[in-house]
Amino acid sequence: MSVQHQRMVVTGRKGQVVTSLIERAEAQGRFDVVAVGRPALDLCRPETVEAALREACPDVIVSAAAYTAVDQAETDEEAATLANGTSARAIAATANALDVPVIHLSTDYVFDGSKASPYIEADPVAPIGAYGRSKLVGELAVAGATANHVVLRTAWVYSPFGKNFLKTMLRLAETRESLNIVDDQIGNPTSAFDIADGVLAVAGNLLDSEDSKLRGLFHMVGTGDASWADFATEIFACSADAGGPTASVVRIPSSHYPTPAKRPANSRLDCGKLREMHGVCLRQWMPATAETVKRLLQQ
Ligand SMILES: NC(=O)c1ccc[n+]([C@@H]2O[C@H](COP(=O)([O-])OP(=O)(O)OC[C@H]3O[C@@H](n4cnc5c(N)ncnc54)[C@H](OP(=O)(O)O)[C@@H]3O)[C@@H](O)[C@H]2O)c1
Repeated sequence: MSVQHQRMVVTGRKGQVVTSLIERAEAQGRFDVVAVGRPALDLCRPETVEAALREACPDVIVSAAAYTAVDQAETDEEAATLANGTSARAIAATANALDVPVIHLSTDYVFDGSKASPYIEADPVAPIGAYGRSKLVGELAVAGATANHVVLRTAWVYSPFGKNFLKTMLRLAETRESLNIVDDQIGNPTSAFDIADGVLAVAGNLLDSEDSKLRGLFHMVGTGDASWADFATEIFACSADAGGPTASVVRIPSSHYPTPAKRPANSRLDCGKLREMHGVCLRQWMPATAETVKRLLQQ
């Protein structure tokens, strides 16, 4: 018997999550992933969203594109809010009009980082930067536009694609013997491939069941936590094992590495709700990191 594939329409073309979704969906076999991005769908032109999504005939929509330049957003908040807020609303409103579920990616940066333990979904939000504020506008807009939604907050994303901390570390290690890395921000390094697997599982659950407990806000990050310095140390250990470049890590406080946008000191997210409701739990971050390092070194 031939299996009818379902169409997962994802926003963005070359982003880490969309690229990982295309690869993982092919291996999994239930969904055909259709990536829709600029110029047809431009988050900075919210009026383009509906027609581009309708044209792609989705069974489920994944809202993975975003204005992700965290530091740049500090001086460009209007554009970040247009892309991450107004267009998120347009995406969810289109999902509602088409009567399909929408899975919207959000961020740990909606929190201020002052909590001493991992954040749960019910914790109060208080973004400390423009990017976090713009993503929070998007979360609320999606929830307001359709009940048939899942907002997935993720964090510290890395992959073989695009720009991310892991790739930056490997590149810098080619020319530097030692690197100063922030040690007083902790979070959950998260492989975009694992996010893709999680999104595919959640999408399947939403299409298979109308249970309201499967809808709403969830946290989804890699298992286990680390500081940026811990993460860098592990990246270099994996790279050394695979014969790649390494550097020694000098642990510094974030006050010694000023950036335009402030980052939360505690970014850890508790993923218990996702595990309980959706049966989804992402891998430990260390083996997932080793896999990505190996793949990059083999390219
Ligand atoms: N990266 C992280 O560490 C991180 C952490 C927490 C949450 N998140 C969230 O996770 C999601 C996926 O992130 P990611 O790491 O995959 O992002 P990414 O690699 O930075 O890629 C951003 C994606 O958004 C698209 N995009 C940007 N501006 C656009 C516009 N005006 N119109 C249409 N598309 C536009 C890009 O389009 P092109 O393909 O055309 O370049 C790209 O596909 C985002 O919602 C992000 O906020 C990411």
